[in-house]
Amino acid sequence: MEIQRWKEILSPYDLAVKELDVKFNHMIMENRNIGRYSYVERVETRRKTIASIIEKCKRKSIPVESAVDVLTDIAGIRLICQFEEDIERVADEIRKRPDMVVLEEKNYLQDVKDSGYRSYHMIAQYEVYTVHGSRAIPIEIQIRTLAMNFWATIEHSLNYKYNGNVPDDVKTKLRASSDAVLQMDQEMSSIREDIVTAQELFYIKATLVKDINNSINNLYNYEDRAAVLNIQQEFMELYKIGTLDELKEFQRKLDAVAARHGAQEV
Ligand code: GTP
Ligand code: MG
Repeated sequence: MEIQRWKEILSPYDLAVKELDVKFNHMIMENRNIGRYSYVERVETRRKTIASIIEKCKRKSIPVESAVDVLTDIAGIRLICQFEEDIERVADEIRKRPDMVVLEEKNYLQDVKDSGYRSYHMIAQYEVYTVHGSRAIPIEIQIRTLAMNFWATIEHSLNYKYNGNVPDDVKTKLRASSDAVLQMDQEMSSIREDIVTAQELFYIKATLVKDINNSINNLYNYEDRAAVLNIQQEFMELYKIGTLDELKEFQRKLDAVAARHGAQEV
């Protein structure tokens, strides 16, 4: 198939992957800004390369022309969580989203693969709008913990290195480390509440400090430079020793000054 034809065929997949990257990352950011724990820690997206599509078609004896009708993983998105219990919450959020329809689910957390692979998979249908009109395309969603992702990345590289024929002793080690990953996820889950509370506080403070810095920068536009430097000094002291409530109060005062000048910025 000519490259131009591939470009046309794959264009909606590129769009889907870009849109979903923006959407999921935006949700992470919104959660953190309001100091709410984000069940998704990180998002990875990719569109399968032409070479990899052709390779998969060969492996599965599919004519390349029907690749887009058969393959459901040309657009891929990986949602990485901190804790195993977050995975089900993320899957549930996806089932409820109005912008996609879940077609299929595979639970490799319950049915661990022989390799030791753990993950929750979904195939969903997602609509994009292009110059050729609306196109509903399948997306493969993989939901897993950071630890599971670490394991899968390593195992994938080894498979690549050995061309799919990983030696038995290496396979055995991989299965053992997959059990270790499960154990680590379980240990981490037992202190999840502590970690979540600490992280929520961290993000509340980080957002507040960012807002205060913005407000101070903004003050330079309409206040005397020396006065702003004083405010900055005051903030540095508060940042070191102040409580969260004191920081919030400081931000409220800065906000009031900006509002007086009609110059609030975000
Ligand atoms: P594919 O032909 O690979 O697409 O398999 P499938 O259609 O039966 O789907 P499956 O859910 O088994 O796998 C889909 C994707 O999950 C793969 O393309 C990998 O990204 C990932 N995956 C599945 N099994 C493994 C595994 O044993 N190791 C690693 N590292 N990844 C895996
Ligand atoms: Mg697949």
